[in-house]
Amino acid sequence: MQEVIVGRVEGATVPKLTIEVQACIEKELWPFYRQFGGKPYQPDILQKAAAEIEELCRILEGEGVTVCRPDVVDFSKDYKTPDFEVPSGMYAAMPRDILMVVGNEIIETPMAWRSRFFEYTAYRSLLKEYFKRGAKWTTPPKPQMGEQLYDNSFFKEEYNGKYITTEFEPCFDAADFMRAGKDLFVQRSHVTNMFGIQWMKRHLGDKYNIHVLSFDDKRPMHIDATFTMIGPGLIIANPDKPCHQLSMFEKAGWKIVEVPRSVVSDQPPWWMSSKWLSMNVLMLDPKRVLVSSIEIPTQKMFEKLGIECIKVDMSYANALGGGFHCYTTDVRRRGTLESYF
Ligand code: NVA
Repeated sequence: MQEVIVGRVEGATVPKLTIEVQACIEKELWPFYRQFGGKPYQPDILQKAAAEIEELCRILEGEGVTVCRPDVVDFSKDYKTPDFEVPSGMYAAMPRDILMVVGNEIIETPMAWRSRFFEYTAYRSLLKEYFKRGAKWTTPPKPQMGEQLYDNSFFKEEYNGKYITTEFEPCFDAADFMRAGKDLFVQRSHVTNMFGIQWMKRHLGDKYNIHVLSFDDKRPMHIDATFTMIGPGLIIANPDKPCHQLSMFEKAGWKIVEVPRSVVSDQPPWWMSSKWLSMNVLMLDPKRVLVSSIEIPTQKMFEKLGIECIKVDMSYANALGGGFHCYTTDVRRRGTLESYF
């Protein structure tokens, strides 16, 4: 990896518990969102998370990677458009959700949470700079996010296999996609609909193949703590969320390794994700991985695979719902466009 964007937690605000947030978050956490939605996250946790992210940046630079950061934005302002209104935004902590790099193109994704509608503003200085340096800069149609994008009947049953987003207009988060050369894999999730996947298929054209994957998952949102690509022909898989299309990878000769369970405790809090962030790792190249300093079983798994672990503490950063992969978008990597399927 040569260049990476690392998100920031400064200005982070708890999103309002709108139905699309509710569908993605564990029920036990709903009271937290009801109490704090629209208000900044607890300052002491944010400060500790910010310090961890600064350390992550130093480590990446020490490994020879150029690090770029989004602008500091105050996400506590009201969001109001002709179609919806929420009391605040959220953060610019997870560039993996909003920026997708495909070749020399950088795509600002049309995310589905209303509290993330204006998140792009934090990345515009960077995107203008990349454009000046020759990148192709694309913004798909922004969803209007009125009532019709969300299925109001979703919560009538406990679990119905449905999604909170309808097919009213395209939406997708970049973190529901992963890429191996000419092949992209995507899951239909609460924040990525088939219309969004169709949009990407038509946009990327014949040069790339998009395959839709599915998993046993009641709360699908972002593929990178479910099925993580480690390198050409190697995937680590969440044993609680089996993939329904494994045979496709097996036929292509890929190795799928189940990840050991996380060993983290309940403190600092987990406000936005499962503890499977232990597998939300970042590969610097096929032989070096950034992995949590606490997750010894996961480190052992990588060592057995012949991959060197660079250990970093992300305990407080994890509280906001992301691990190494979520907090970063790799902008430039060495290598040529390969076909693995
Ligand atoms: N929403 C998923 C993925 C987070 C990166 C989870 O909580 O495991």
